[in-house]
Amino acid sequence: MDGNGRWARARALPRTAGHRRGAEAVRRTVRGAVELGVRYLTLYGFSSENWKRPPAEVDDLMALLRFYLRSEIADLHEHGIRVKVIGERERLATDIVALIEQAERQTEGNERLMLTVALSYGGRGEIVRAARELAQEVAAGRLAPGDIDEPAFQSHLATQGIPDPDLVIRTSGEQRLSNFLLWQSAYAELVFVETLWPDFDKEDMERAIREFHRRERRYGAAGG
Ligand code: IPE
Ligand code: MG
Repeated sequence: MDGNGRWARARALPRTAGHRRGAEAVRRTVRGAVELGVRYLTLYGFSSENWKRPPAEVDDLMALLRFYLRSEIADLHEHGIRVKVIGERERLATDIVALIEQAERQTEGNERLMLTVALSYGGRGEIVRAARELAQEVAAGRLAPGDIDEPAFQSHLATQGIPDPDLVIRTSGEQRLSNFLLWQSAYAELVFVETLWPDFDKEDMERAIREFHRRERRYGAAGG
């Protein structure tokens, strides 16, 4: 979700206003995904690197997150949406962690859409953590190095149990992954759209899905 700042700047508004509109786009996109029959949606809300932003902006984003968690969870639950958060939870404020845990617990049994929110998330950090956990297993004598294969590695990632993304959409014209689901996106179709995140809507998502369907996915096999 990129482009909140540029959206605000184009209107001579503070970045905060862009983030606020961005939160509305989250609401719209989640509803749109349910309507389109999407089963798994992962939103990159805040990266490990976003902590480097000015403290006032970080505070502002965290306040929005608190507000979103407090005001939206009941509605998400009513719509049959399961909420899961991935990322470095230990870096988030304790009250936010409590809200996240409550949201995950409350929506645990829902199956219509799995909404994963990446907060203080970074793909490299996630991979390093998996490597460290596997090394600990080996050091403790519970695992042989030769048993470390892709499924074993995958089982230590935060997305364990969530299928790899088929489609990754990045807004605002940037053409980078920026540390998003690095392992999981190995075969994802990447779609880059010019729309700034606060303007993103169901139509943008439908267009990206249509683009996805036009592509031929071969997973390394020969073309026909
Ligand atoms: C996305 O918008 C919001 C977060 C990364 C939290 P940006 O804040 O990155 O907006 P731009 O890139 O400055 O337009
Ligand atoms: Mg940005």
